[in-house]
Amino acid sequence: MNDIEEIRKSLLLEAENSDNPSNVLKDPRLKKLYARIPTLPNQEKAEFGKFLNSLKQELAEAIEKRRKELLNSDVEKLDITAPFDQNQAEPQLFSVEQANLHPLNNEIQKVNQIFRSMGFEAVESRQIDNDFNMFETLNFPKDHPARDDYDTFKTKEGLIPPAHTSTMQNRILKAGKAKLERGENIAVVSYGRVFRNEDIDATHEHTFHQYEGVFVSEKANLSQMLGTLKEFFDTYYGADVKIKTQPAYFPFVEPGLEFMIEKPKAIGGKEGEWLEMLGCGMIHQNVLKKAGIDPTKYQGFAWGGGFERLVMLKYGITDIRYFESTKLDFLRSFK
Ligand code: PHE
Repeated sequence: MNDIEEIRKSLLLEAENSDNPSNVLKDPRLKKLYARIPTLPNQEKAEFGKFLNSLKQELAEAIEKRRKELLNSDVEKLDITAPFDQNQAEPQLFSVEQANLHPLNNEIQKVNQIFRSMGFEAVESRQIDNDFNMFETLNFPKDHPARDDYDTFKTKEGLIPPAHTSTMQNRILKAGKAKLERGENIAVVSYGRVFRNEDIDATHEHTFHQYEGVFVSEKANLSQMLGTLKEFFDTYYGADVKIKTQPAYFPFVEPGLEFMIEKPKAIGGKEGEWLEMLGCGMIHQNVLKKAGIDPTKYQGFAWGGGFERLVMLKYGITDIRYFESTKLDFLRSFK
């Protein structure tokens, strides 16, 4: 029976040190032990059976103990800040890349900085809103067909992932009312994600970004607005940008305009290549009233445009879908 004791010890040792302790149950020596039972004289069978049962029990305990040990040691060895694999005996340095901001966030910061330098505050827009801010405060009558222009998503509860940053207008106006009363202006840009139920292609995404300006004072007027926008485009594209407008309809501005620029040569444009960049206009009286601002005393202008388009033009990006993709070569090219 000496060899049996040897086997017992060796199996237990195996379980206690293995990286995969339950493998010991597949050890051929264990099988051989079981195979012995029928060969034994009857009076030894019972005793040998008992021994095997207790060995099985011992192995189960050893396996369990080892399993826990391995789990704990894994936790100790996991150091996500280590620039190498700690589980390797000879640590191999990973090739660690310096991360960078997403190109859109980078550009959002630049755009905000330009507007800040012109006296605007910048606030991020909300990503979940309601009918009140999406339509009602913006002078869209109930069941008005203009609501359909906005391909709006809606949750089961009736909440709305905003289809434009104009959802921030009422909030900006209400919050700024006190400023007007102190004789100051309201000058805010809001920027952020917007969502539309659109068919997706190289120039359309269901999720994109907009930037929006709201300015209110006693004497705000269209030429101030055009001057502000031209200054912005000149600075962002680093060129003297030609601008023009044409009439457009948005329920929340009157008059409403579409604002176009001639694509600057500096970014590969040709003469006469006009591009629509944003919608704008004088803030509708009803919108001011809804925020408690007296439209006989104050005037305002607002604009709102797609952010990706702005950035795509600057860098010659050909597909809007790159922004929300995980195309690393695209993201890396913006370091
Ligand atoms: N919210 C409009 C859009 O997304 C753009 C706009 C903003 C127009 C502000 C006028 C004034 O189409």
